[in-house]
Amino acid sequence: MRLVFLGPPGAGKGTQAAKLANYLGVPRISTGDILRRNVSEGTELGKKAKGFMDAGTLVPDDLVIAMTETRIRESDAKRGFILDGFPRTIAQANALASLTPLDAVVTLFMEHEELIKRSTGRRVCPKCEALYHVLTNPPRKPDVCDRCGSRLIVREDDREDVVRTRIDTYEERTAPLIKYYRDRGLLREVYAGGLIDEVFLRVLDALRV
Ligand code: AP5
Repeated sequence: MRLVFLGPPGAGKGTQAAKLANYLGVPRISTGDILRRNVSEGTELGKKAKGFMDAGTLVPDDLVIAMTETRIRESDAKRGFILDGFPRTIAQANALASLTPLDAVVTLFMEHEELIKRSTGRRVCPKCEALYHVLTNPPRKPDVCDRCGSRLIVREDDREDVVRTRIDTYEERTAPLIKYYRDRGLLREVYAGGLIDEVFLRVLDALRV
């Protein structure tokens, strides 16, 4: 299947996309993770992207489109993929449409104050990119990744003021994609509140898989 996960910061796109990728046996392609890897490796792309990411705004379309196109063409994505965090603008959606057909677009929605709690409590593994939350999804040992044993970190853009800017950026630049995909008959709307496994059942139900 070729799927997209849309939704505001902290809604659980990465968490649900990772579970679904495992269930379907296709790669999860997170543009946020690819960009953060480039920042930490100090690549040219990472240097150009860092300022936008730290401020909670979008990295320019041309950079993100080229990066995603390259990733989608890799052999593991031939049988399908789940895009997590792309597209985020109409220009990105048009570029994706010229590259590949999609089977469905899942959009996660929930109350803004909950989004802030989820983002500010998030911990991530800098090595294997596993996701945790200090209250709702803690690692077995505090601040240590269950999967690879690395020390967990707080994302630079998970400060409350930056999270609020990211939510505003989502409303202004990305929310118009809800209508874009509804008009094309691809949209599946899923409420993102409740336990991770409850949301996952809703996602499976919405996709009928
Ligand atoms: P990106 O990394 O994509 O961030 P985001 O879209 O803001 O989304 P998040 O990763 O914050 O949240 P999520 O919805 O994945 O939630 P998660 O599953 O982690 O992008 C970062 C930046 O990169 C952007 O701001 C931009 O600058 C740039 N960028 C990326 N893509 C771009 C593009 N296409 N164009 C331009 N710029 C781009 O969950 C959040 C927390 O909640 C976790 O702690 C998790 O454990 C917990 N949680 C999840 N589900 C539940 C649940 N059901 N109950 C309780 N806790 C839960």
